[in-house]
Amino acid sequence: MKTRRIVELLASAEVDSDVVVKGWVRTKRGNKNVAFIALNDGSCVKNVQVVVDLQKFGDEQLRQITTGACLRVDGRLVASPGSGQGVEVQAEKIEIYGTADPETYPLQKKGHSLEFLREIAYLRPRTNTFGAVLRIRHAMAFAIHEYFHTHGFYYFHTPIITGSDCEGAGAMFSVTTMDLNNVPRNEEGKVDFTQDFFGKPCNLTVSGQLEGELGALSLGRIYTFGPTFRAENSNTVRHASEFWMIEPEAAFYELEDNMELAEDFLKYLIRYALEHCREDLEFMNKMWDPELLDRLNFVVANDFKRLDYTEGIEILKASGRKFEFPCEWGDDLQSEHERYLVEEHFKRPVILINYPKAIKAFYMKQNEDGRTVRAMDVLFPKIGEIIGGSERENDYGKLCARVRELGMNEKDIWWYLDTRKWGSAPHSGFGLGFDRLLMFVTGLGNIRDVQPFPRTPKNAEF
Ligand code: 4AD
Ligand code: MG
Repeated sequence: MKTRRIVELLASAEVDSDVVVKGWVRTKRGNKNVAFIALNDGSCVKNVQVVVDLQKFGDEQLRQITTGACLRVDGRLVASPGSGQGVEVQAEKIEIYGTADPETYPLQKKGHSLEFLREIAYLRPRTNTFGAVLRIRHAMAFAIHEYFHTHGFYYFHTPIITGSDCEGAGAMFSVTTMDLNNVPRNEEGKVDFTQDFFGKPCNLTVSGQLEGELGALSLGRIYTFGPTFRAENSNTVRHASEFWMIEPEAAFYELEDNMELAEDFLKYLIRYALEHCREDLEFMNKMWDPELLDRLNFVVANDFKRLDYTEGIEILKASGRKFEFPCEWGDDLQSEHERYLVEEHFKRPVILINYPKAIKAFYMKQNEDGRTVRAMDVLFPKIGEIIGGSERENDYGKLCARVRELGMNEKDIWWYLDTRKWGSAPHSGFGLGFDRLLMFVTGLGNIRDVQPFPRTPKNAEF
């Protein structure tokens, strides 16, 4: 007989039929005559109740059915007399696939802290919280592809290994096959990369944007969705060394179009979660963040506030608030500033545009004023920056001048600069941090708890 997933069983009205369920024991309780096993197979946050008539089963077998054990149950689906569930399974046969010794299995009692679960990240998908988070993560990935597919954007695969530094921040992991104990040197005594695997210095990508722009300037609209890597030594709740990023890039989009896209896209994803992940979101709302559902509904229902960086700075300065970091014109905004604007001043998501050029990357379109660029950051409640993007500099001369001004090497990105020589066009794009999106949608406050296997400074376990 075919195994039924618990999510389907619980929704099914096929009572009084034979079923097979397979899953992991969450709890077992009962009395002299009957045992109740709560079985979960990861398909939903709810368990199915398996009712075991003790007279039909041997003591030895029942003893082995402990929290964490994996079972196959053949039985009958019946209407449940108990409250809390519509149906239950009356066990006729139980096969134990794998036992879980109560002395050693770490996920015994309920209610572990997130910190403890991080230490056993290889087991935490078996908890209700991580089951919910990982199902929501899947749903968001699916919705992202659906959104772009239905809006004329092509999924474009940019390389993971590159020789360029898109953000110019130098926070890169190098990729090499050189023997680090015996690095080849050239005549000047410098590392001789011509002997390395790729014949030049390479790194894991920090962003697929530069290659994404080539896609946009040929296919019109593209998006990337893949892992990105940053070797920033920042131990915050919002930074991971490996995270996923979604980067749409569109020809003929100006900053205004880019903002429209970002707002529509984010609202679509949140609406999708509200519609398709209801039970998991309700669980997160109950367990971790009682304002979660209200916040999600609010963001979907309200316009984002669009604002110039310069006005943002004026508001911060006029706030009378003592911030930890300074916020004079020209400073990069810190999370505390972003959250003040979003949570306290405007009380809604903010799209901040036209930042000083000195704090933004080389590729952003320069404004007439000579000191700002057509950048846009989308700032979200609880998160701060969730999206960073811009209109791109499409003028060859201005782009080269900026590259030189910043002391970058034109030779490293000759192919990128070339696109501005032939058939250049206005275009724009942005990057959405997938894991920050997940923090927002699940209500969890630490990026380490929305990734299955987080990588952060001094941590690459599992
Ligand atoms: O603002 P960032 O650095 O922008 C870029 O990389 C552009 N090339 C994107 C583009 O225009 N195509 O990063 C974009 C987003 C941030 O807003 C944030 O959500 C996320 O990526 N992000 C991180 N998420 C987790 N950990 C980190 N260390 C992150 N750094 C950036
Ligand atoms: Mg940014």
